[in-house]
Amino acid sequence: MAFVKLILEVPRSLFLANSIAVRRNVYSCARISETNVSDAVGKRRIIKGWVKALRNMKENVFIDVSDGSCSEHLQVVIPKSVKPSNLTYGSSISVEGDIAMGPNGRVELRAETISVVGECVVSDGYPFVPRKKYSQEYIRQYLHMRPRTNSFGSLLRIRDLATAAIGDHLRSRGFVGIHTPVLTSNDCEGAGEVFSVRPANEGLLKSMKKEGVSDEEAYFNTKVFLTVSGQLQLESVVRGLSKVFSFGPTFRAENSKSRLHLSEFYMIETEIAFTKNIEELAKEAELLLKSVTNYVFDKGASDLRIHGAPEPDWLHKTFDIISYDEAIKILEKNTDRLSLPLKYGESLSKEHELFLMHHTSGVPIFIVDFPKDSKPFYMKKASHDPTKAAAMDLLAPIVGELIGGSMREDNYDVLQSKLSSLTPNLDWYLELRKYGNVPSSGFGMGFERYLQTIMGIPNIKDTIPFPRWPHNCKF
Ligand code: 4AD
Ligand code: MG
Repeated sequence: MAFVKLILEVPRSLFLANSIAVRRNVYSCARISETNVSDAVGKRRIIKGWVKALRNMKENVFIDVSDGSCSEHLQVVIPKSVKPSNLTYGSSISVEGDIAMGPNGRVELRAETISVVGECVVSDGYPFVPRKKYSQEYIRQYLHMRPRTNSFGSLLRIRDLATAAIGDHLRSRGFVGIHTPVLTSNDCEGAGEVFSVRPANEGLLKSMKKEGVSDEEAYFNTKVFLTVSGQLQLESVVRGLSKVFSFGPTFRAENSKSRLHLSEFYMIETEIAFTKNIEELAKEAELLLKSVTNYVFDKGASDLRIHGAPEPDWLHKTFDIISYDEAIKILEKNTDRLSLPLKYGESLSKEHELFLMHHTSGVPIFIVDFPKDSKPFYMKKASHDPTKAAAMDLLAPIVGELIGGSMREDNYDVLQSKLSSLTPNLDWYLELRKYGNVPSSGFGMGFERYLQTIMGIPNIKDTIPFPRWPHNCKF
């Protein structure tokens, strides 16, 4: 009986707490995104945010306020008589009043009370002044203040929207999201671009260190790195869950300060069991790109407008699949328009990738069948040509390579011979091919490069809240 009573009582008290919260909400703080709609007219609201512009008129002061909930600012009108002396551009404020329809047909808040929560003395070193347009290079010098700019606020909302859309889309296709580890003892791409990890506490290291073991191995009994890709771990999980994905930070120690490389970036990786060929994988990648982009342009239209990003034409076009050899032929016919030499067998340079994008008028294109020596050990040979890897790269506007993927080498003996020359030990990876093995394939898409492509952002550093690149790791 006591148990039944408890069940009956708990929801009741929860319900009470909820209804208080709902009632409070009516009178407490509202977000501008909820206020900027006509059915808010006539309602009393408290708004908290930052002053984006300030206009003193004869009787009233007009303030544009942003709270980051949407791209729109809310116009707040206050009588001059209540204006605090420390109300300036950039300050944070709390205002209370009634939502009304303004003469221009847009909702505004007719405030009766206002308080300055945090002052902003612009002349005291605040990097932005009102009504001035700044270059991205300038804004990037103030990474800690950047989220207050309108354009970066929009970027962050689109980034969040796309993050949710990617998870939703992949789950709707039957993929299970997997948290692959950030710390790993493997170098997935085998290119030596790993950052190593060890405890900073020298005393701890000394106390844990066994004889003949390096400082790097003292803690885990093995060298440990920040992951360059969750792929190898996904290959383990896919042999149990059939369709999996991860979406997390990846780290690459490349000495590249290019507009397309970060030392820390986010990657969406998929892995699919029982795949027959690379075309099947390409279709999945195309679907992901189109479905997520469609959603983002549907739901994020006003933020995208701030970036002047039109809906891409390619949303309604089919992506072609061409071989590496065909790509080389196209480039060979146009060497007079290229500054970098073409070397058959090597990876395409960024210039070559972007030329191919120009050639397709900006419609992304899959390149498949790369020379196998230009690709990592885990890629399977193409069934029709042993000199080629069953690999694909998707090239996209602005960035060139956006997605990289392949069929995985699933033959135990072939993989064993490839792995014998590799350290560290990948016996566990080989063993996946021994019991209940299946063919699998997968791809990885750089999330920041994706945002560059759809938003037309030239520099990758402007797509991530706190970019890290060589000689730069603030905060
Ligand atoms: O082509 P990558 O190296 O492929 C892999 O990591 C595979 N293990 C993925 C897989 O099959 N599961 O990287 C995938 C994508 C690239 O196409 C690019 O968009 C992005 O990750 N990328 C970077 N983005 C920003 N900064 C860097 N330094 C990047 N390196 C790769
Ligand atoms: Mg690649």
